[in-house]
Amino acid sequence: MAKKVVLAYSGGLDTSVAIRWLKEERGYDVIALTIDLGNEKDLQTVEKRAYEIGAIKAIVRDGKQPFIDYFAFPALMAGAVYEGQYLLATAIGRPLIAKMLVDVAREEGASAIAHGCTGKGNDQVRFDVSTQALAPDLEIVAPVREHRMSREEQIEWAEARGVPVPVTKASSYSTDENLWGRSMEAGVLEDPWASPPEEIYMWTRSVADAPDTPRDVEIGFSHGRPVSLDGHEMDGVTLTQTLNEWAGEHGIGRTDLVEDRLIGIKSREIYEAPAAWTLHTAHEALEQLTLSKPQLRTKNSLRQEYADLIYNGLWFTAHHQDLAAYVHSTQRHVTGTVRVRMHKGQVVATGKKSPRSLYSYQLATYDRGDEYDHDSALGFIKIWGLPVAQQAKKQLLADGEAPFQLGTSDAGADA
Ligand code: ARG
Repeated sequence: MAKKVVLAYSGGLDTSVAIRWLKEERGYDVIALTIDLGNEKDLQTVEKRAYEIGAIKAIVRDGKQPFIDYFAFPALMAGAVYEGQYLLATAIGRPLIAKMLVDVAREEGASAIAHGCTGKGNDQVRFDVSTQALAPDLEIVAPVREHRMSREEQIEWAEARGVPVPVTKASSYSTDENLWGRSMEAGVLEDPWASPPEEIYMWTRSVADAPDTPRDVEIGFSHGRPVSLDGHEMDGVTLTQTLNEWAGEHGIGRTDLVEDRLIGIKSREIYEAPAAWTLHTAHEALEQLTLSKPQLRTKNSLRQEYADLIYNGLWFTAHHQDLAAYVHSTQRHVTGTVRVRMHKGQVVATGKKSPRSLYSYQLATYDRGDEYDHDSALGFIKIWGLPVAQQAKKQLLADGEAPFQLGTSDAGADA
């Protein structure tokens, strides 16, 4: 009996060729696994194609719910944004796909998993490292990285063997999409000076085309997780899908980034992530209300670390578990509602409230309801300034010279 491999199968040219390549060149029985993370496509056709090309089994699984609940929302709660502009849609999808490949490999008694990544991107790292963490005994095969055939060569290779691969018109871009966002690269985008052509955007309207009238949406959160839109409770998948439409309509969530890949090169990627941007904006606003200053500080200082960890393929690590435990703990009072205004490519939080809010009107107001103890402020300042005054008296002012000269680089400290 031939050994089995579970291949992450998208239905495109690369992975279609891979089905036959794994069989002919490596002697595997191929199980094609197609995972739906919200990337609209005709899953039945994909499944049928896998069989036609020679897979012994084709499996289609819906990963949308775990994707949102265990990957996207945790990344949201951590405030994970890579290099200021990338909300990590592709990067958080990979570890889940790896997990599902491993699960199917176990169910089917396979000895290997396979993916269609090239040898130049981040995704190969994410698949390989995740698999090594989850199932160190499984072999990892990356046909495209190994055979290194170009698009044209793959088409010829397939035609010579009568493999029915999908030969659509060569798309000028490489795209990856899931519920959390779309990533687009290659083609004319490889010139960082070239403006992205409008037709690459599928989820967002241009600012020029976006409605003149703003739209307000109330987003409800419970313990850091988005749970409702305009007062209607819904599951995370529905909420994300709905918000992608509403925010996309207003042109929200486009970014254009020359980013630093883990494997050492800079590359240009365009993103659109309307729901994810809107949710990040709202979530941050609610944290302002419900986290203390040191909590906000510490959490902010970890955002970058968290984003890097996701980007760099280290999802299934002890370090991530530790960071996630901290983030989880910070979210226990992040419950409430944020009103965002979406207008002409911008999303702004215009209102926030929470039953656990640390904001107190009585303490903050300058009006008659003021309950702040002004006398205590006086006492506080005396103590706060005590060491400052003491040092100034004993040292800085001791020689009778003016120690703080404006415009001198050492502030006259040693005058
Ligand atoms: N640059 C992004 C990342 O490394 C997206 C990669 C996939 N992009 C694509 N257009 N196929 O996570």
